[in-house]
Formats: sequence, C-alpha cells, structure tokens
Amino acid sequence: MTTATSSDMTLPLLGGRHHFLLRRLHSLTGIIFGGYLVVHLIVNAALIQGYSSRDVYQVQVDKIHSLPFLLAVEWLFIYLPILYHGVYGTWITFTAEPNVQRYPYVKNWFYTFQRISAIVLVFFIAFHVLGMKGVFWSSKLAFDPEHATASTVRHINASWVTAYLIYPIGILASCYHTANGFWTAGITWGLTISAQGQRRWGRVCGGLFFFLLACGLLALFAVLRDANSVNQMLNTVPRR
Ligand code: HEM
Repeated sequence: MTTATSSDMTLPLLGGRHHFLLRRLHSLTGIIFGGYLVVHLIVNAALIQGYSSRDVYQVQVDKIHSLPFLLAVEWLFIYLPILYHGVYGTWITFTAEPNVQRYPYVKNWFYTFQRISAIVLVFFIAFHVLGMKGVFWSSKLAFDPEHATASTVRHINASWVTAYLIYPIGILASCYHTANGFWTAGITWGLTISAQGQRRWGRVCGGLFFFLLACGLLALFAVLRDANSVNQMLNTVPRR
C-alpha cells in the first residue's frame, strides 16, 4: 500500500493538473512586468538630461501621474503581475533542480543566473517599492511625485549602501532577468522553436539587456552626479 507524501498533496495545485496554466500565467505576468520595466528604465534615463534648464524627468513623472485611473492601472499592470510572478517564481526557484553540474553548458548557466537574479529581485523590489512609498527605514527614501528629481536623488543617495551596492546590483539583476526571461518566454509560447529562431531572438534579447543596462546606469550616474547640486532643492522638498 502506498501513502501520500506532503509533496503529493501540494502537487495537484502547484505542480499537477493546474501546472500548465499557472506556468503560462507566470510567464505572462513576467512579460507584462517586463514591459513596464522597459518604460520605467527609459523614463529614469531622462535624469541624465539634468534639471537646471528643463526638468525632463519631472515632465515624464507628471504625465504618468496625470493618467486616469492610475491606481487601478498600477494594480493591474504592476503590483498584481509582480506579486503573482514573485510568489510562483519563488516556488519554482526552490523546487527546480539545478543542472549546471550535470550539463555545464552556457544555457544552463543562464538558467541558474535566472534563478539567482530572481531571489535578488525579491529583496530588491521589496526594498525599492516600500522605500519609495516611505513605508520603512528613513524619510530620505520616500519618493515625492511633485519633486520627482530631488526626491529620487535623495532616495538613491540615502547612504553609500543604496548608491553603490543595492542599486547597482538591483539594476543588473533586473536587466539580466528581464532580457533572459524574454528569451525563454519565446520558447514557453512556442514562438522560437528552431535553433536558428532561438539564436536570432537571443541576439535581440542580448541587445535588450545592454539597452536596459545603459538606461539604468545612465540614471544611476545622473543621481550620483547631481547629489551635491540638488542640496538647495532638497531644502524645499517637504520631509515626510
Ligand atoms: C524585474 C522583475 C521581473 C521581471 C521583468 C520578470 C520577468 C520574467 C520573464 C519574462 C520570465 C520568463 C518566463 C518564461 O520563460 O516563460 C521570467 C522567468 C522567471 N522568473 Fe521572473 N521576472 C521578474 C522578477 C522575478 C521575481 C521577483 C521572481 C521571484 C523569485 C522571479 C522568478 C522567476 C523564475 C523562477 C523564472 C524562471 C521560470 C522558468 O524557468 O520557467 N522573477 N521572469
């Protein structure tokens, strides 16, 4: 007689007959959030244009904050997708068997880095969102949409740890995970079946990685550059 184990009991929901749909939803939410991330990093890159003559970054933030039903749009296209993708992705990460040692090929390293970057992103996204919303640690981290540039500069420069450790690592992990995720999503959705198709799509996704990284690093460079010169502006930003 066989007895059911605890993993048998979780399988029907997480890994069994619902597996296909849950997996597709995980892929879809990753693509939706990835689309948002591309826009987010391009808007952030506008910080490189500076704020003294015309604050281009503030103009973009104003446009976003004047969208109708902003809260609903944020929940539908940002918070819910990343919540689902993060929770199900954490389950995948800890239940999938690493195969790097058995098959030491480049693609297996990509697969391992996808999971490492996923775990980094759980912590980074929690820190980024809760910090920007002013939920924890310090009022220095809160984002103020009316003083977008000054409060972003203040956020990143809150300490050397945020500026030189958390953000560079978070940006690198986001860009890698998104670009490699778009590549594997091509296979998930049956769009890149042939080896040639996967190679071509790989070039596009490689380009996307460098493009996103350039946007993220431009924004980071801009806020480090402007750290001292926005001091005056910071005095006018209301502290929460
Ligand atoms: C910047 C935020 C994120 C974006 C844009 C993103 C996007 C994606 C995309 C597009 C995929 C490919 C899906 C597929 O192969 O069909 C993927 C895969 C994956 N994501 Fe994310 N993701 C993000 C954050 C996270 C987080 C926080 C976790 C939580 C652990 C996570 C866990 C995973 C895992 C484990 C995979 C691999 C799934 C597999 O091999 O089938 N992701 N991600």
